[in-house]
Amino acid sequence: MRKEAAKDPVRIITKNERMLEVVSRLEKIAASDNTVLLIGETGVGKEVISDYIHDNSDRAGNAFVKIGLSNIPSELLESELFGHEKGAFTSAGEEKKGLFELADHGTIFLDDIDDVPMHIQAKLLRVLESREIMRIGGSRTIPIDVRLIAASKVDLKMLVEQNRFRKDLYYRINVIPIEIPPLRERRDDIPLLAEHLITRYSPGKRLAFSEAAMVAMMRYQWPGNIRELRNIVQRLCLFVEVTVDIADLPAEIRLESHTDLTLDHCTHCLIEKSMTLDEVVVCLETNLIRKALDDTRGNISKASKQLNMHPSTFRDKMKKYHLSTGVQDPSGNTSAPGF
Ligand SMILES: Nc1ncnc2c1ncn2[C@@H]1O[C@H](COP(=O)(O)OP(=O)(O)OP(=O)(O)O)[C@@H](O)[C@H]1O
Ligand SMILES: [Mg+2]
Repeated sequence: MRKEAAKDPVRIITKNERMLEVVSRLEKIAASDNTVLLIGETGVGKEVISDYIHDNSDRAGNAFVKIGLSNIPSELLESELFGHEKGAFTSAGEEKKGLFELADHGTIFLDDIDDVPMHIQAKLLRVLESREIMRIGGSRTIPIDVRLIAASKVDLKMLVEQNRFRKDLYYRINVIPIEIPPLRERRDDIPLLAEHLITRYSPGKRLAFSEAAMVAMMRYQWPGNIRELRNIVQRLCLFVEVTVDIADLPAEIRLESHTDLTLDHCTHCLIEKSMTLDEVVVCLETNLIRKALDDTRGNISKASKQLNMHPSTFRDKMKKYHLSTGVQDPSGNTSAPGF
């Protein structure tokens, strides 16, 4: 029989300023018992943050019930959430407790709240306001004591304006909104998360990224966010022995990584790829430094002169963007300055 492993405390890996600010508020939020609304694209870590909040709250010893609202067919949603009495409908052979009842004295996590149909929204509102539920087919109300954490992929206010989300429910759950930025807006977390994931998936292995591979990872848009990064790292851990090179990365990352210094390309990044001006500047700066290193065969003094930059500023930027001179290091790994 499998022994239940002790649960590791939830760790939110980040060094990004915006995320650190989120994390700095979490402990207070967890202790407050307030309703929390997590907003962020798929794979940004909404569930991880919900785990953190529950685990650090007074309810930590009690139930934590998580529901992916978009995974439950609309016709079953009501009975899943609020339960039903015996004989409430044809297939209701036995009475059944709903998820709200199961979460009593604990926390309930309503994921994908943006996907909840209107008729359930009305019922949810009633439960949140009255703090009691009535099972389908039932005639008595049951008091419930739950803390709500909801998660949404989109700005619910926009759905309210489009009449796809009830305004009153929106105000009921938008008590403490927490916005989690997508990975492409916190690129400084990519190396840190990659390293963390390598340790998680192959603890014995000392897998490292060549700088060309890391620059490509830093430049990629990450539509699937940390989940996508996790899947890629998991694959790399399986198939790569020592150094992850650009050739080991999936095509979508390799294809976005070519060096292009033209204004046309920058405009394309801004408009087609929705990169911010800051990101485009980082991309341009990285490319110019790489090109200068390439042109001067890794001679920092000549390369910095080429860019009219002080050598120490040039070195600082190389460090910031994980660039090296491309000279063979003693471990035998070459890291070509250009690709
Ligand atoms: N800051 C983080 N540190 C470490 N791992 C993280 C972090 N954020 C997310 N992850 C990992 O990334 C994966 C996706 O995170 P999670 O499931 O929390 O995302 P989500 O926002 O809930 O996505 P979805 O909207 O698709 O449900 C998980 O494997 C999680 O462990
Ligand atoms: Mg999730």
